[in-house]
Amino acid sequence: MDKEKQLALFEKGVGLRKIPYIAIGGGKGGVGKTLVTYLLAKRLSEKGKVLVLDADMGLPDFYILSGVKPQKYLEDYFEGSATLDEITTPVDRNFDLISPRSGNDYLLHLDPKMAVELLNKLDEFIVDNYDYFLIDLGAGIHKINQLIFSSVDYPVLVLNPNIMSIIDAYGVIKTVFSNYRRTYYYAVVNQVRDKREYTKTVNVLEKSAKSFHKNIHVEGVGFIPYSPKVAMGEIPKDLFRYADTILENLLRDGYKRETKGGFWGKIAALFRH
Ligand SMILES: Nc1ncnc2c1ncn2[C@@H]1O[C@H](COP(=O)(O)OP(=O)(O)OP(=O)(O)O)[C@@H](O)[C@H]1O
Ligand SMILES: [Mg+2]
Repeated sequence: MDKEKQLALFEKGVGLRKIPYIAIGGGKGGVGKTLVTYLLAKRLSEKGKVLVLDADMGLPDFYILSGVKPQKYLEDYFEGSATLDEITTPVDRNFDLISPRSGNDYLLHLDPKMAVELLNKLDEFIVDNYDYFLIDLGAGIHKINQLIFSSVDYPVLVLNPNIMSIIDAYGVIKTVFSNYRRTYYYAVVNQVRDKREYTKTVNVLEKSAKSFHKNIHVEGVGFIPYSPKVAMGEIPKDLFRYADTILENLLRDGYKRETKGGFWGKIAALFRH
């Protein structure tokens, strides 16, 4: 491949050493971030190798939804008692998970220099072994969520049609814009009854965000309908076609380049206490 072409691909995020980093957040608890992450990861794993990082440092539960039991955790890697290979748990063909241990803020007390080194290795590991990297964020707007949301290629907000969840998603946008100047956001509305409800929800969010600052853009990329089966712990097959639409809309134009420098380099700011 000639250099120019390579560079163009790199710019689009599909280059040799660059893969899409997608974060699924939204502020409010229980809106369906983990479900959406799972649906997207499962579909992406049919196109390439996917790694999901459960970044809910309080109550990580992606492993429960995906029906696996990690043998080693993110902290084991940072403590030096496990390799990156050992902390990745296969969920499905082409679909791996890295999960932290429950209720542990160990990561925040790492030596900054060591943290940066370990994060760089993690970055290399991801780019060398995977085609897509998804991060399932916990609820709330802690610094780690802000940093991740401001540094990924695709910040995806999950919200429900109810006003409290719209307010929380708006709160995330306001905070991440104010602290990191990120302007472009994607929205997925979960638990909708019909398409009208989806459009209305995205419009309210987009309008509120725009009235906070005119440079902010919120792009609705799709919805997931309310499904009683999901509430019973099952994932009905028909939900995957909604995930397909979301991925199509999300990945269609490549990402809006707002992040300069490496992702983990930015996350390392967490450790500069
Ligand atoms: N489309 C849906 N239809 C019905 N129930 C749903 C749907 N999406 C999510 N749920 C239910 O809502 C609950 C929360 O979902 P999920 O764990 O994905 O949310 P979350 O945003 O990741 O929560 P947390 O903030 O705790 O991380 C689960 O019990 C799930 O079964
Ligand atoms: Mg969750």
